[in-house]
Amino acid sequence: QPRVFSGVQPTGNLHLGNYLGAIVNFVALQQSHDCIYCVVDMHAITVWQDPKELSRQIREVTAAFVAAGIDPVKHIVFNQSQVSAHAELAWIFNCVARIGWMNRMTQFKDKAGKDKENASLGLLAYPSLMAADILAYKATHVPVGEDQKQHLELTRDIAQKFNNDYAESIAEHGFGDAFFPLTEPLITGPATRIMSLRDGTKKMSKSDPSDYSRINLTDDAEAIATKIRKAKTDADALPGETDGLKGRPEADNLVGIYAALSGLSKQDVLNQFGGQQFSAFKPALADLAVEKLGPIGAEMRRLMADPGHIDQILANGALRADAIARPILDGVKDVVGFIRRK
Ligand code: TYM
Repeated sequence: QPRVFSGVQPTGNLHLGNYLGAIVNFVALQQSHDCIYCVVDMHAITVWQDPKELSRQIREVTAAFVAAGIDPVKHIVFNQSQVSAHAELAWIFNCVARIGWMNRMTQFKDKAGKDKENASLGLLAYPSLMAADILAYKATHVPVGEDQKQHLELTRDIAQKFNNDYAESIAEHGFGDAFFPLTEPLITGPATRIMSLRDGTKKMSKSDPSDYSRINLTDDAEAIATKIRKAKTDADALPGETDGLKGRPEADNLVGIYAALSGLSKQDVLNQFGGQQFSAFKPALADLAVEKLGPIGAEMRRLMADPGHIDQILANGALRADAIARPILDGVKDVVGFIRRK
């Protein structure tokens, strides 16, 4: 049975990259799949988080999900720490995965920086918890941006090693020849990697110190327009063909953003704007961004005014998520040979 799972960290500013690379696809998949969308608060604390700010951010990501069009009644929205299966399965996966696999993750290398010895152990084990998020529900499809591809490959490696290491026990317990599915990443659309507005070679990121590098979902119309006006570009006009965007990362990024926000292809956008200067294209892009993001930001602010309601959405989602994960985790424990209360 197909099942979608994905997660977003409640750390810092949700931005256009998170929205176009992930959340838009979360919304679309609701039509065709059963979906579980998780605010991964346990992943967030792999680097230091101020406690009050963390609680606020968990609610803000939840508000963004709902404001963008995720239905928390038909589908499941919750925060990770409320369902203990994530932590329990992550421990088992810590014992399946190899340290070498973790050391090779580019996100770990980026986030740990030079002083690897001083990174939290959780930061190293991060992908193992991510595999647990997905496999606690035996999810088959995971919509993400391009930067999560390596983590999803590791999820498949962990699933496969578990299936191999425990093959005999899996069969003996009546689970056939594979316990976990090999999850498919869904990295689709024209916006799988949105770049910084200040540097077309760096991805747009929550942690970039310059707020001008990204458009936040909570930015008002004026902030959105200013950031697009100030976005770095080259001096040439827009090309007529997508080939002409090669070697022009900033132009390529802005055209990609326009395409993703409008639902057009990049070529369609160039058919419309090819030959024009950025001084003409940028205001059109700003208007489009305000039109698409303005209502989401406004709805987020409305939802954030009632934190009790958001907490209720999360509690309700957590109960339903737990009901799916619990029997799967029981199966894992039986396969591993643990003894559990029956
Ligand atoms: P996170 O919180 O960094 O980002 C959330 C989603 O946004 C995508 N994204 C982008 N897409 C396009 N362009 C960008 N500049 C950009 N920046 C971020 C990310 O690819 C992601 O889809 N490890 C995950 C969270 C996670 C998860 C999971 C995801 C934890 N468990 C299980 C899927 C399944 C992360 O840090 O995403």
